[in-house]
Amino acid sequence: MSADEYVIEIEGLLNKVGGTVLHKDLDFRMRREEVVSLVGGSGSGKTQLLRVILGLKRPAAGRVRVFGVSWDDPNPKKVRDARRRMGMLFQNGALYSALSVFDNIAFPLRERGGLDEDEIRAIVHAKLAQVELEPRHGALLPANLSGGMVKRVSLARALALSPELLILDEPTAGLDPDRSERFVHLIKRLRREQRFAVLMVTHDLDTLHELTDRVAVLAEQHIIAFDTLAAVRELDHRFVRSFFGGDRGKRALQDA
Ligand SMILES: Nc1ncnc2c1ncn2[C@@H]1O[C@H](COP(=O)(O)OP(=O)(O)O)[C@@H](O)[C@H]1O
Ligand SMILES: [Mg+2]
Repeated sequence: MSADEYVIEIEGLLNKVGGTVLHKDLDFRMRREEVVSLVGGSGSGKTQLLRVILGLKRPAAGRVRVFGVSWDDPNPKKVRDARRRMGMLFQNGALYSALSVFDNIAFPLRERGGLDEDEIRAIVHAKLAQVELEPRHGALLPANLSGGMVKRVSLARALALSPELLILDEPTAGLDPDRSERFVHLIKRLRREQRFAVLMVTHDLDTLHELTDRVAVLAEQHIIAFDTLAAVRELDHRFVRSFFGGDRGKRALQDA
C-alpha cells in the first residue's frame, strides 16, 4: 500500500508533555475512509496524541505524516494543503464565543480565501443544513446554544472545507443518551455521504459500537492493540477488561 493510501502514519513516536514521557515507541496507521476509535484510560494521552496528529504539538522523536506529509516538511504549501484536508471537533466544541454561528462556520472558508461572500453564505447554509440546523440559527451566538447545538455547529465548522479526515475528541461527552445517539447517527449519515475517514476518541460504548471499523487501544505509552471491536474486547489487559467488562459494556456489545 502506498503512503498516499494512509491518512495518518505514525512511527516510533516519542512525545513528552511537561518533561514527562507520555508516548513512547508508538506506531499507528490509518487508512482512507476508515472509522477508528481511540480508547484509553483517563490521562493516558489520547487528546495529546490528537494534538500531535494535528501538528499542534511537535514530538520529541519519530515520524508523523498526515496524507503523506510531515508537519516539518520544508514546503509550507504542502503542509497547509494537508492541514486543510482534515477537520477537527474539539472536546468542548471550542467555538469562537464572540462570533455568531454563521461566522464560526465561515471562519475556515474566509481563512482559506478565494470565495466571495455569496459563495461563503451558500456553503455555510449548506453546512447548517447538513447538521440539521436552519439559516436563522446562523445569527445566534455560542452562549445561546444548547449543548447538542454546540456540537452540531462545531461539526459544521469542522466539515466546512469538506475534509477527508475528521478528528473527534469525545464527541458525545456531556450529551444525554438521546442527543448522543442522534449525534452519532448524524456523523454516520454524513460519513456515508461524504466518505471521510474518522478518528475519534470516545469512552462511550454505544458510540463505539455504532460507528467503528477498528479500535486502537492506548496504554503503557503506546498503541497496544489495533483491531476490530470484537477482537479488542477479548484482549486480556487490565484496561480492556475494565473498559468493556462492566454491565454497560456487556449491554452495548451483546450484538457486536
Ligand atoms: N499542557 C500540559 N502540561 C502538562 N501536562 C499536561 C498538559 N496537557 C496534558 N497534560 C498531561 O498529559 C497527560 C495526558 O493528557 P491527555 O492527553 O489530555 O489525556 P486523555 O487521554 O485523558 O485525553 C495527563 O496526565 C495530563 O495531566
Ligand atoms: Mg482527552
